Amino acid sequence: MARNQGLQPPRGTRDFYPDELRLRSWLFGHFREVARRFAFEEVDAPIVEHADLFIRKAGEEIVEQLYHFELHGRHLALRPELTPSISRMVIARAGALRFPLRWYAIGQNWRYERMTRGRKREHYQWNVEVLGEPSVSAEAELIAAIFTLFDRVGLPTTAVRMRVNSRALLEETLRKGVLRDRPEAFEPLCVVIDKIDKIGAEAVTDLLTGEIGLSANEARTVVEGLAVRSLDEAAARVPDGSAAAAELRRLFELLDAYGVADRVAFDASVVRGLAYYTGVVFEAFDAGGTLRAVCGGGRYDGLIEQLGGPALPAAGFGFGDVVIQELLSDHGLLPELAREVEAVVFAVSEAERPAAVRTVRRLREAGRAAELVLGTPRLKRAMQDADRAGAREIWVIGPDEAARGVARVRDLESGEQRDEKLPDGRS
Ligand code: HAM
Repeated sequence: MARNQGLQPPRGTRDFYPDELRLRSWLFGHFREVARRFAFEEVDAPIVEHADLFIRKAGEEIVEQLYHFELHGRHLALRPELTPSISRMVIARAGALRFPLRWYAIGQNWRYERMTRGRKREHYQWNVEVLGEPSVSAEAELIAAIFTLFDRVGLPTTAVRMRVNSRALLEETLRKGVLRDRPEAFEPLCVVIDKIDKIGAEAVTDLLTGEIGLSANEARTVVEGLAVRSLDEAAARVPDGSAAAAELRRLFELLDAYGVADRVAFDASVVRGLAYYTGVVFEAFDAGGTLRAVCGGGRYDGLIEQLGGPALPAAGFGFGDVVIQELLSDHGLLPELAREVEAVVFAVSEAERPAAVRTVRRLREAGRAAELVLGTPRLKRAMQDADRAGAREIWVIGPDEAARGVARVRDLESGEQRDEKLPDGRS
């Protein structure tokens, strides 16, 4: 490895210097606050898992992009997403858990992606799941949580739109035709048609004939169906009494009650790229259409059983940290976050350091963020540093103050000064 290369993080990964970490913590704070308001409990899992947990055979990108390795005869992988780990956790305790569960996690995921704006090789996700609830009241709650987040970070209501579809509806549409003799083709077919935004209708048609084995006619019918943008039109393509269409109608009714229905639109081209979805699927996009999905999710009623657990309905979403920051930046909404130092305590010489230490202890015990100047620079330098750190006050203890048993406190904004009594030496 070239020496200078070793100083860069691997391509597509990020270091978080204090400024960036403050921003990340700010965002995670909003994730946690929305989760709290929606009564979701936080969980966590290891970032390294058995590779088998993630390996599926439907041709998904996420599996091709897996960071995986052999170690002591074990095949391990860095997680590319959190849903399989959460499913594993549920399976391990399924007998003892009371459903439905409302769980969320915030964690780093790894995918060896081809990078574009908003797409990296590691990203953090706010991953929220409802486990054990079969009705679309789960999806409605999840979508409402997403909009609450958008509102909290200050995005105008027109900045993001949610596109919703149902894989169950697509399956009903194709059941008697394309899928009649090959129901098992449905998962890989979804994985292929998910690519339409990225590679275009023609390339998808080619994949449907080449990889999935549809006739040219069948492939064309499938691709044409993806252009449907109204639920009524989509419902007209399935037999009367379609359960999937009824679910979508119910979902829109509930979203109306949450006050977000006008920010959500039916879109038959949304199918999602992960094989495990079985029902409602949704993705949120910036209204300008310049970024990849800000978040996405849906119902995955088969995954837990496929992983060896009970048949447990589930729905959830993943909301990344990268795209939302791009979007906030485009809107000029990234906050300026200063360091959180309230007071700086400065001993003019080493003789006053014990008094300065007792003072800073008292401030910290009182819950204030207080920095002790560790060396003995000149007062001017200490004041400049304190100012730069965003501190409101500097507490100066020199020989004169020590002799009088006080600290000279200067308000760095107003310039006003006052004396504060020093804590006594025996405390
Ligand atoms: P996903 O669509 O693969 O779904 O990822 C969810 C979100 O994570 C994306 O919308 C995007 O914000 C972010 N994301 C994904 N890959 C990258 C990347 N390479 N760079 C930056 N951000 C990225 C899932 O992961 C599902 N597990 C979501 C889910 C939970 N479905 C049900 N429950």
